[in-house]
Amino acid sequence: MARAAAVPQPVVVVGAGMVGSSVGCALTEAGFRVHLEDAVPTHAQVAASLGAGVAEPADPDAVGLVVVAVPPRLLADVVADALQRFPRAVVTDVGSVKSRPLAELERRGVDLGRYVGSHPMAGSHRAGPVAADPFLFLDRTWVVCEHPSARPEAVAAVEALVQACRARLVRMDPVEHDAAVARVSHLPHLVSSLVAGGLTDLPPEHLALAGQGVRDVTRIAGGDPRLWEQIVGMNADVISVELQSLQRRLERLREAVESGPEALVAWLEQGREGTRRIPGKHGGAHTEWSRLVVEIPDAPNALGRLFTDIGDAGLNVEDITIEHDPTRRVGYLSLDVEAEVQPTLAALLSDAGWSVEPATD
Ligand SMILES: NC(=O)c1ccc[n+]([C@@H]2O[C@H](COP(=O)([O-])OP(=O)(O)OC[C@H]3O[C@@H](n4cnc5c(N)ncnc54)[C@H](O)[C@@H]3O)[C@@H](O)[C@H]2O)c1
Repeated sequence: MARAAAVPQPVVVVGAGMVGSSVGCALTEAGFRVHLEDAVPTHAQVAASLGAGVAEPADPDAVGLVVVAVPPRLLADVVADALQRFPRAVVTDVGSVKSRPLAELERRGVDLGRYVGSHPMAGSHRAGPVAADPFLFLDRTWVVCEHPSARPEAVAAVEALVQACRARLVRMDPVEHDAAVARVSHLPHLVSSLVAGGLTDLPPEHLALAGQGVRDVTRIAGGDPRLWEQIVGMNADVISVELQSLQRRLERLREAVESGPEALVAWLEQGREGTRRIPGKHGGAHTEWSRLVVEIPDAPNALGRLFTDIGDAGLNVEDITIEHDPTRRVGYLSLDVEAEVQPTLAALLSDAGWSVEPATD
């Protein structure tokens, strides 16, 4: 990536919630002066106390960049207001949907030369400034959505913001962005909610059998319904088409289940192929990890001892998950490591007294 221009200072963050205060923390840590604004003044004060900037008004004529991080339905209003209040500033927003706020601003006849929308593909199911995280954007994709009226210096300023937050810059047209997020974010969220919603009328003795698989599939359904209603509502046209396509695929899946092993294996293989196409860490190629499962007693400092032993081995662990045994007071910690490292780590942990198994799946 070519080196971007500097972030124009001072920066104003409007909406000091989870994303806004994380932007504030990342920029403050990178040495920029950040002013925080929020419709709820205590949000700006809490964000300031967590290192996201100062909860004091900025001189409107001096402001170089405004980052709008308010709920999706308010984006067009707050961006239009920011363009008016800060006459020299470049204005961006971090909203999860890009076309509709842009169309709304165009419809109102707002001069959009200083506006360039963006979307950090990093988040949390938590809301508000207490969820601020200066490292939220580290190595995560941040899409910058240039539009025909945007001035080049405005695009450069927003790209500099992405770089200052240490995210990976991706440039994309707003319409293409919304089509992409419908497939990789909005539809997965709705399918997760669909499966999780089906659990509400299961008897407790069936739910007692729930393992990591159902937890994996339903995890994102735990997100805030009021935020997701706005995101889905603002991308409803695209999502509706995706749901129709899903409906056709569900029908073919039903036929595959009824018609016997070959059709079903082909279907499951296609699903596996889809998981392999998801880029790996840092946007690189997908990597198949080898998994080791370590039994850990449900006892004080068991995890601490295990992590010390892993640290002493000096080997890199890519990911961990913990599953609890519903019948015994033990947990199973899965460690994802590179295939060639797995036997060495297994031997070292066994020697240290841990019960270790390679994963069967
Ligand atoms: N949550 C995520 O994972 C995620 C990820 C990427 C992008 N986004 C986008 O970021 C934006 C903010 O999401 P969030 O998760 O930080 O929400 P949040 O609820 O944590 O924060 C929103 C903040 O905006 C404030 N606010 C509301 N109306 C305002 C107004 N008119 N003026 C000033 N402040 C106002 C609220 O008081 C709140 O502090 C949304 O547009 C969302 O689509 C969210």
